[in-house]
Amino acid sequence: MTDRARIAILISGAGTNMAALVYASRMPESPYEVVLVAANDPAAPGLALAAAEGIATFALPHKGLTREAHDAAMEAAVLAADADHIVLAGYMRILSDGFAARWAGRMLNIHPSLLPLYKGTGTHTRAIAAGDSHAGATVHLVTPELDSGEVLAQIAVPITPGDTPESLAARVKLAEHQLYPRAVADYVSRWRNPAWLLTQLRTRALALPETCEQESFGSAGFRVGEGKAGKYFAYFSDRPHGHDRIALLVKTSGMDELHALTEDQPDTYFKPAFYGASGWVGIVLDRPDLDWADVDAWLQRSWRSVAPRRLTRLMDAADAF
Ligand code: GRF
Repeated sequence: MTDRARIAILISGAGTNMAALVYASRMPESPYEVVLVAANDPAAPGLALAAAEGIATFALPHKGLTREAHDAAMEAAVLAADADHIVLAGYMRILSDGFAARWAGRMLNIHPSLLPLYKGTGTHTRAIAAGDSHAGATVHLVTPELDSGEVLAQIAVPITPGDTPESLAARVKLAEHQLYPRAVADYVSRWRNPAWLLTQLRTRALALPETCEQESFGSAGFRVGEGKAGKYFAYFSDRPHGHDRIALLVKTSGMDELHALTEDQPDTYFKPAFYGASGWVGIVLDRPDLDWADVDAWLQRSWRSVAPRRLTRLMDAADAF
């Protein structure tokens, strides 16, 4: 598969989650491959396993370096490996804000609690002390604020009578090893997941004034205007007639523009069945490099071309200046 995501895994210790990620990546159809395992401790046992698996490794102790300098060196190794995502797996370092910000949306972490409960360390001790029935693990996006990014996946694990932090940690890890590879795979392949694409599109289309969603011939459609007078300005098309792509259909200014787009950028634009005859264009959504700002622009344009005059009058006036 050519479009596999390239992940770099950062560890500090045992690396059992790293191992789970590596072995899951060896299964057929894995949407990611592990291109680097890096550690802030050259003695981290996980490094030896990664090397034995033929994966590039990098180690740099943080002692004597500023946080920014150490992060910069780790990041340089990640970039040299041409990784597109960073996956933290027991990486016991607080990241500098700049590092986290530069990888926003492309850096994941696993935390051994049911976030937002028990951020930071000592999670199992705290869950047992609180008398919780369950502990668990959370996969989340990394943001500058510790353990606070968007939650991508969670799994609950029961706390049993007599559990110690160690026995509970071991049980939670079994669950982590199932959760993490699955969450990483889902995340890096979301660009071709129709449900995710539709959610993204829906949020954007419904953010425009006086819009609603209405199904049309089995596809999600988006309309502007009230009731029967409303008009469609966009359709979500999941592998339509004759196409194996997931697409957004929007209105162009007419046949000339439609033909220019499909001729100049055939990987992005196509003439859809039926709608193409009246100047609608298909925009391929399942592309790893899709620019959602472009999608926004197209939605706005298409909305504006059919929205009632009372909604567009102000915009037209603004354009006149
Ligand atoms: C895991 O419990 C993970 O949730 C936490 O650190 C631990 C790493 O363990 N962030 P391992 O090195 O993957 O075995």
